[in-house]
Amino acid sequence: MRGTIASGIFAALLSSSATTYAALTQVTGWGENPTNLQMAVSIPSKLAEKPAIVLALHYCGGTGPAYYQMANYDQYANAQGFIVVYPTTTKDSNCWDVASTKSLTNNGGGDSTGLVNMVKYLIQKYNADPTKVYATGSSSGCMMTNVLLAVYPDVFAAGSCYSGVAAGCLAGSPGSSPASADPKCASGQNVKTGAEWAAQVKAMYPSFSGSYPRMQTLHGTADHFVEYFNLAEQLKEWSALLGVEFSQNVTSSPQAGYTKIVYGDGTKLVGYSAANVGHTVPVHPALDMAWFGLA
Ligand SMILES: *[C@@H]1O[C@H](CO)[C@@H](O)[C@H](O)[C@H]1NC(C)=O
Repeated sequence: MRGTIASGIFAALLSSSATTYAALTQVTGWGENPTNLQMAVSIPSKLAEKPAIVLALHYCGGTGPAYYQMANYDQYANAQGFIVVYPTTTKDSNCWDVASTKSLTNNGGGDSTGLVNMVKYLIQKYNADPTKVYATGSSSGCMMTNVLLAVYPDVFAAGSCYSGVAAGCLAGSPGSSPASADPKCASGQNVKTGAEWAAQVKAMYPSFSGSYPRMQTLHGTADHFVEYFNLAEQLKEWSALLGVEFSQNVTSSPQAGYTKIVYGDGTKLVGYSAANVGHTVPVHPALDMAWFGLA
């Protein structure tokens, strides 16, 4: 895994030399922060009147600023005038907590609560549009994307993420990092029916009766770190929560070797299977922003 992270950062540094980035601003005093997270934001010079907010979540061992370079969203943020938040967790090998009851409970006081408080702060401060809040991330950041959409379905409109696991897959595990987690989840042995996943998610926020956020999730078939089986588990989970069935596969979408797995009419749930791609699937900024309606 160290190799993956190192090469990811290296690739990001290479690409950064060719691109001009807006400055990242560290924010403090943004509200209740029960797990001591750090918050950095990129605010384009020309904000939309009611800007959208994208929460972009780093991989294990990463940081917000490292993910800022890896994700490469500035071109879209500048054109559309939306805000991107790049938070950092420094606990559990810099992995997001997707295991504790606190983080897996609406207003439970875990990492998920702190992240949502960043969103609330930005909505207030920049008159951002509460109906246009999105989450994305890679690996641990994709695990947290699944968790945020499950635990705060009334905060997020959609998620798009890379190489993660279903919300609740690590529930009860002693930690969320490669060193601390119950290996059953990442190794793809936590297999449930869609109805079982949906029941687990609904118990995270029992009083919620609205519709769940739209979800797009990508995974590599050669991922043996967070096994490929986890794509199917995420799709079962969101298929049940969103009430959409598999409808068709589209090959070579968005590029050769990738198969788009379409549920329903493709507006609520889509998976992408990336043939022979390992951990993690590279960020596809255009695909993320198209899914969010921000391209
Ligand atoms: C759709 O594509 C996925 C990923 O390649 C594959 O696992 C699945 O079997 C395909 N389904 C059909 C009906 O072809």
